Amino acid sequence: MPDTLSRTVPGPSPSPSTERPLPTAICSIAGLGHYLPERVLTNDELALTVDTSDEWIMERTGIRGRHCAAPEEATSDMAHRASLEALADAGVHPAELDLILLATSTPDTPVPSTACYLQTRLGCKRVPAMDIAAGCAGYGFALHMAAGAVKSGMHNTVLVVGADTLTRITNYADRQSCILFGDGAGAAVVRPGGRFDVLYSNIGSDGDGASMIRVRAGGSRTPASAESVASAGHTLEIHGREVFKAAVLQMTDCIRKAAAAVGVRPEDFDLIIPHQANARIIEAVGRQLDITDKRVVIDMIETGNTAAASIPVALGRARRRGLLHPGQLVATVGFGAGLAWACQILHIRN
Ligand code: ACO
Repeated sequence: MPDTLSRTVPGPSPSPSTERPLPTAICSIAGLGHYLPERVLTNDELALTVDTSDEWIMERTGIRGRHCAAPEEATSDMAHRASLEALADAGVHPAELDLILLATSTPDTPVPSTACYLQTRLGCKRVPAMDIAAGCAGYGFALHMAAGAVKSGMHNTVLVVGADTLTRITNYADRQSCILFGDGAGAAVVRPGGRFDVLYSNIGSDGDGASMIRVRAGGSRTPASAESVASAGHTLEIHGREVFKAAVLQMTDCIRKAAAAVGVRPEDFDLIIPHQANARIIEAVGRQLDITDKRVVIDMIETGNTAAASIPVALGRARRRGLLHPGQLVATVGFGAGLAWACQILHIRN
């Protein structure tokens, strides 16, 4: 597996997309932010406790390290850091927010919502705040809901956050899954006018695939007990090969449908940012779309799979690496537990 971060950075060349008439924006993203905890768990460190190697993990996943929350750090703490950055980037004061949507599979506590902890940290009292559970597609679901809320006129300025502390629900005795996950948070401020116009948004779910990625215990079906803890029932179970195939099929289909909906071809996207689960999944999506170059962003070598944070983190890192330029069309596509998927098309304003 090549070091994907060493790929050539796309330049600010005029995009084919800028020459095409595009649909009216549903809403915009006015600011972005993300946060990754300081501590990095490397493949070599993992190989000290589980039967694996840096070579195997890099070859099969494209991941070399993953950020891990500090013991005292929870999902809302990371969400808070990412939100402050997004608000500053947008030039928006927390008091201007009128809705907070936080996507996570790893809430601080089962009750109340993590969004409420975030709301009080931000100091924006009485702003409605709620969690959205859609696995690794959660950020896309939250953005979809925010877009609808803004377009309807019921809300004006929505904070959308994807944040997960997957290392808290990872089974470090399972070598197939423990190599994949890291922690992080990403945030976006959504309002009518901003830097990234949201031209298209679509979400979907397939509950028939619920058992492919799940945490068995801790809910109403199997409440927490000494037995559920002893049997690792509170950790993520994945059927890696099945998820791999479903992710490739669904993300490819989402991109094709999104391109058709805005009147372009998949190859017209300047960047495609898929959920960062496994570099091989993303490469397979690229091959299906006949796009095998750097336009399909692979950026999990340092982060692993950060679930709901994955797309806003990858988008923010793409911007820091100079990959985003005015006029570009950017497609983002998430896929994860549920099964659930979400796809958005962003147009970067001139
Ligand atoms: N180190 C060394 N060997 C390993 C490891 C490891 N960490 N893990 C598995 N192996 C072995 C297996 O035991 C197997 O050995 P065998 O042939 O003797 O049986 C061999 O490697 C191949 O195993 P596969 O499962 O076929 O490996 P694959 O190439 O499919 O990679 C992986 C596994 C990385 C999990 C891949 O399937 C994947 O990324 N799947 C999708 C990831 C996923 O499920 N994400 C969930 C999203 S999470 C969310 O939504 C919150």
